[in-house]
This record gives sequence, C-alpha cells and structure tokens, in this order.
Amino acid sequence: MKTCTNRQTEPPIWVRQDATRRRYVREMFSRVAPRYDLLNSVLSFQLHHFWRRYVVRTLRLAPGSRVLDLCTGTGDLAIELARYLGPAGEVVALDFCEPMLQRGREKARRLGLNHTVWLQADALMLPFADAQFDAVTMAFGLRNLIDKPAAFRAIHRVLKPGGKVAILELTRPQRAPMRWLYDLYALHILPRIGQRLSDADAYLYLPMSIQHYEDRATIAEYMCEAGFVNVCYRDLTLGVVCVHTGVKP
Ligand SMILES: C[S@@+](CC[C@H](N)C(=O)[O-])C[C@H]1O[C@@H](n2cnc3c(N)ncnc32)[C@H](O)[C@@H]1O
Repeated sequence: MKTCTNRQTEPPIWVRQDATRRRYVREMFSRVAPRYDLLNSVLSFQLHHFWRRYVVRTLRLAPGSRVLDLCTGTGDLAIELARYLGPAGEVVALDFCEPMLQRGREKARRLGLNHTVWLQADALMLPFADAQFDAVTMAFGLRNLIDKPAAFRAIHRVLKPGGKVAILELTRPQRAPMRWLYDLYALHILPRIGQRLSDADAYLYLPMSIQHYEDRATIAEYMCEAGFVNVCYRDLTLGVVCVHTGVKP
C-alpha cells in the first residue's frame, strides 16, 4: 500500500501545494476510477446528483452555450450539462487522469451524448485561446489543485465577457451540531467504508483534504482577485457542500 507521506518529516500530502501532491492526486484517481461512481453514491447517500443538478440550474445557460467542465473525472457534471444544453450546445470535459476520463467517455457514449469533447489536460494549464466559453464549472476538483488563485486566473482567461463560473466543492459545515456529526462521519466512518469498498489512502485523503480546504470567504477572495464580479457562495445540505459563483465582466 502507498503511504500518504514520503518521509516522516514531510508534511502530509493534503497540506502540500506542490508537484508531489499533483502526482499523488493523479495516481490516486487512476487507482479509484473503477469504483469512483459507486463510492460517490454510497458516501453521499446519492446526494451528489442533486448537487450537480443545482450547479447546472444556477448557471441559467442560454441555448447553444459552450461550457468547460474542469476536473470532470467520470463526467457526471459534464453529462448533466450536455443533457441540459441539448445538441445545440457543446461541453468540453477536461481532466488530467485518463482512467477517469475513459469512464466518462463510455457513459456519454451509452447515453448517446455526442456533443461532449473529452480532453486530457491540466486545469492549471488550459489548452485554449482566450474568451472561448460561456461558462466554466468544476465539481469536487478545486480542493485538489495546488494553486487555486492560478486556477481562477486561468478560468477567467478562457471565459467570454459575461461568462459564468460555478465551483461545487465539499466543505465542513460551519455550525454545531452539524459540524460535530459531519466530523464523526467524515473522519471515522467514511474512511472505513472507503477502505472496504475501494482504496484506504484515497478515502483518508478525501476527508483530510476537506478539513484543510480554504474557507468559503478565502475562495471568494481568490475569485475577486482573478477579476470575477458578483461573487457569491451558497451552502447546500447544511454546509457539507458549497457552490461559489461569479461572472467575468
Ligand atoms: C473528486 S474528482 C471529481 C470528478 C467529477 N468532477 C465529479 O463531479 O465527480 C476530482 C477530479 O479532478 C481531477 N484533477 C485533479 N487535479 C487536476 C488537475 N490539476 N488538472 C485536471 N484534473 C485534475 C482528478 O483527476 C479527478 O478526476
């Protein structure tokens, strides 16, 4: 079994913001890809579908929109977007982990959604010219990126003026007693289920990376610094996830 730190003296992987974490994250998702969707459904009690649908609705996309879904993984948000937009729209689903993308591609093919482009690339080095998209989305990806301000600058660059960004991320509830219940579940129960059904390291990394994720106001600040306006955030399900939105002026 791989360990979460290379040496005893090094900080744990979920607090590092460097190439080692980037590599760790990519390898981790390659390992968990075959059971990723199953674990999402089990660990979120199926709520992940509702959260993604909320993101799609909140964007109020016009027909024919072109949307980029970053850190798309097995593509559930990209597929939700493609369904919403219909064949007149286009979704570009981007991830740096081929085994995750492969599952997304297969799901979209089975559903007959041909207006989605699946692209292997890094969310911090977007291979697009400026002002290409009407919206950019990211679900459960931001937490893993090693330079979040740079991610928002990149998103801002590829959006058209008036384009929208929506970021869905797992968060720690802000208030007791939900916060206590959440910690009990995330730190003691979730890792055991993850170990039993998939990969022990990955499902220890998950709650620990949530515990060390920046607070909601800091994420909003990164967005404002990147040039977004109308930046706001909303907790869903008593704060176990949060959606940040903003607009490129
Ligand atoms: C928790 S999964 C989320 C997948 C999907 N968005 C969902 O809603 O289920 C995080 C995904 O982010 C991808 N990822 C992490 N860092 C990335 C980066 N720097 N560039 C591109 N993809 C990245 C991983 O490969 C993984 O597929």
